[in-house]
Amino acid sequence: MAAWSPSSWRDRPALQLPAYADPGALRAAEDRLRGLPPLIFPGEIAQLRGRLAAVARGEAFLLQGGDCAESFDEPGQDAVESTFRVILQMAVVLTYAAACPVVKVGRIAGQFAKPRSSDTETQGGVTLPSYRGDIVNGAAFDAAARAPDPARLLAAYSHSAATLNLLRALAQGGFADLHAVHRWTTGFVRQSPQGERFEELADRITQSLAFMQACGFDAARAPQLHAVEFYTSHEALHLHYEEALLRRDDAGCYGASAHMLWLGERTRQVDGAHVEFLRGLRNVLGVKLGPKADPADVLRLLDVLDPGHEPGRIVLIARMGSEQVGERLPPLLRAVRDAGRTPVWCCDPMHGNTVATANGTKTRDFGRILQEVRGFFEAHAREGTHPGGLHFEMTGQDVTECRGGAQALDDAALAARYRTACDPRLNGSQSLELAFLVADVLNAARRR
Ligand code: PEP
Ligand code: CO
Repeated sequence: MAAWSPSSWRDRPALQLPAYADPGALRAAEDRLRGLPPLIFPGEIAQLRGRLAAVARGEAFLLQGGDCAESFDEPGQDAVESTFRVILQMAVVLTYAAACPVVKVGRIAGQFAKPRSSDTETQGGVTLPSYRGDIVNGAAFDAAARAPDPARLLAAYSHSAATLNLLRALAQGGFADLHAVHRWTTGFVRQSPQGERFEELADRITQSLAFMQACGFDAARAPQLHAVEFYTSHEALHLHYEEALLRRDDAGCYGASAHMLWLGERTRQVDGAHVEFLRGLRNVLGVKLGPKADPADVLRLLDVLDPGHEPGRIVLIARMGSEQVGERLPPLLRAVRDAGRTPVWCCDPMHGNTVATANGTKTRDFGRILQEVRGFFEAHAREGTHPGGLHFEMTGQDVTECRGGAQALDDAALAARYRTACDPRLNGSQSLELAFLVADVLNAARRR
């Protein structure tokens, strides 16, 4: 294989990158980014790799969730805090109900670049570049907004830094203390059936903590009760940005934009630029696998991305669709297992289940999402492999983007608060419902 360098991806075919009108402005933005501090540290990547190695052994579960596309227009505390609190709640549900440690990874603090199926979009006879995420251009359908702007690379860095700062404070500063578990349920989630179920669970946790204290256990000396580890991830799509945030230390190169970076379904070609760039980094690497992925492709990708079979290095994220998971996933599980590979296998039940309503709104059915999760667990049970985790698009806010769930959202209800910048997300109540259902499935799987 040819030598890797931070810029060796530039000699490979690079899909899904924007065409900037002014290359000089792009280079200036890259130079600025190169001089800025890293957002994460390599020691944190090593820690995440250790946690994921445990997931791969079947001793823990990965929960990876957040926005499809973060937005520069949501700079406040609410969006981040509500997403963080729902992921915490989901993790507590899984930890308590299935007695399984949960590794928490957000699609957050950098999830700004989106792959598109078409380079252009036409409305009313006008054709403009497609919206590619806030790191590239604006979502509004006008020529000025849709022109790719390199200044957005710096804005993406600033937003990521501010979000990460808040996440670190939320994770370490008392908010995530298990003694405060009752404070995690807010507004509309509290009113929902899942909210009530969560409150019952929170009561039991509070009682258990009081019981242990009464027995002489000193909670003040157990740091794991007072803070959580929370890691960040996004799709490593915008390679100019990712290269400019590459940093070096004695052990080599790492991507300093997030702990985990993943290859999307549209940019995981073995000879392509995205695979070339990521193979040289020490970060945890995710790979999305859709129904067209064949076993030989997957094995080639593993050879290129993880030649040393390093524990906790790779997360394979299957997004087959509820109708195809039963047929398409097992051959991949077998091929990977028979090659002596033990990546983390994670289920993304969102991206293979996107449909349009009668009036063209993009949505997903909660029932289909669950069906894919069940199919994922069943396939692993048959092949004797570990169903390691769940990857999902959600927000803690009260949006109406996916149909179904206990709130029984229908097509008419979607119009009320449909706010996503890209794909439809589960709201806080649907996310919690998913966690309770997955906890049941995980429990059953562990008892088998
Ligand atoms: C995504 O995760 O938002 C996405 C675009 O996924 P995929 O690459 O699996 O289509
Ligand atoms: Co998406």
